[in-house]
Amino acid sequence: MGEIVLAAKITHVPSMFISEQPGPHHGCRQAAIDGHHEIGRRARAAGADTFVVIDTHWLANSGYHLNANPVHAGTYTSTEFPQLIKGLEFHHPGATDLGHAVAELATARGVRTMAHDDVPSLGLEYGTLVPMRYMNAEDQLDVLSISGWLNDATFDESRIVGEAIRDAVVASDRRVALLASGSLSHRIWPNAETAAGMFEVSRPFNEHVDKMVLDLWTAGRIGEFIALLPDYADHCSGEGNMHDTAMLLGALGWDRYDRPAEIITDWFPSSGTGQCNVVFPVPTPAPTRVPA
Ligand SMILES: [Fe+2]
Repeated sequence: MGEIVLAAKITHVPSMFISEQPGPHHGCRQAAIDGHHEIGRRARAAGADTFVVIDTHWLANSGYHLNANPVHAGTYTSTEFPQLIKGLEFHHPGATDLGHAVAELATARGVRTMAHDDVPSLGLEYGTLVPMRYMNAEDQLDVLSISGWLNDATFDESRIVGEAIRDAVVASDRRVALLASGSLSHRIWPNAETAAGMFEVSRPFNEHVDKMVLDLWTAGRIGEFIALLPDYADHCSGEGNMHDTAMLLGALGWDRYDRPAEIITDWFPSSGTGQCNVVFPVPTPAPTRVPA
C-alpha cells in the first residue's frame, strides 16, 4: 500500500537561479533555496520514492494532463523568462504507472484526465524543474508532473483530481511527496516596473491577504480557507487560478483537513507576487470527504 508521505505548497521563482550566480543578486533567494533543500531532505527522510508536482506553469486548455513519460530528459529554456532560465539540462526518472492510475481514477469520477507516456518531446515546465533542481538533485526520485493551470476548470474538478492522486497513491506501492508548485498572490508588476519591483509586492492588499491565508493554514483552518479560495484566487490573481492548491487540499481531505501547516520559508515578495514554502502535515489516513 502506497502513501503520501509529504505535502507542500512551494515557490518556484526564476530568481532562484540568478541567486546562484555571481553578481548583484547573488544569494537573493537563498531562503527559498534553503526551503527547497529542507523539503527535499524531509521527503527522503520520510522514505519518498516519487515526487508528484502539480505545476502551475503547465497550461491545459482541455482536460487535466499528466506527464507520465518513463524518463524526463532535455534542455529547458523558459519562453516566459529566457533571460533567467536558459539551457537548463534535466534528467529525471518518471512514474508511468502512477500517472495512468491517477488518470483512470479521475476520469472514472467524471473529470477527463489524460496520462501521456509515449511523448518524449512533452517536456517539463519550470514549475516542476525548479523544485526538482533543489529537492531532487541527489538520488533521483521518480517525477510525475501534472498540469496545474487549467484554463476553465472548476475547483470541484481539481478537488476530484486531488482525491484521485491520493487514492491512486494508496493503491500503488509508491511513497509520494506531493508538491503544489505555485505562488500565493500573483500580480506581476506592469511591464515597465518589473525590473525595479523584483523584491516588492505589487499590491499591499495582496500581501495582507496572503498573510491572512498563511495564518489560516498555520491554524489548520482549511475549511474556512476553501470557502474563500475562489475569491482569493480571483482578487489576488492566483497563479494558475490556484488549482495546484485545490488539488493539494483535495488529496489531503479538502474541508475536513485541519492539521496546522508549517511555514518552511517565510512569505516573500518576488516581482510583485507573494511566495512561500509551506508543509502540510499528512494525516494518516487522509480524511475522505463526505459527499454533500
Ligand atoms: Fe510561476
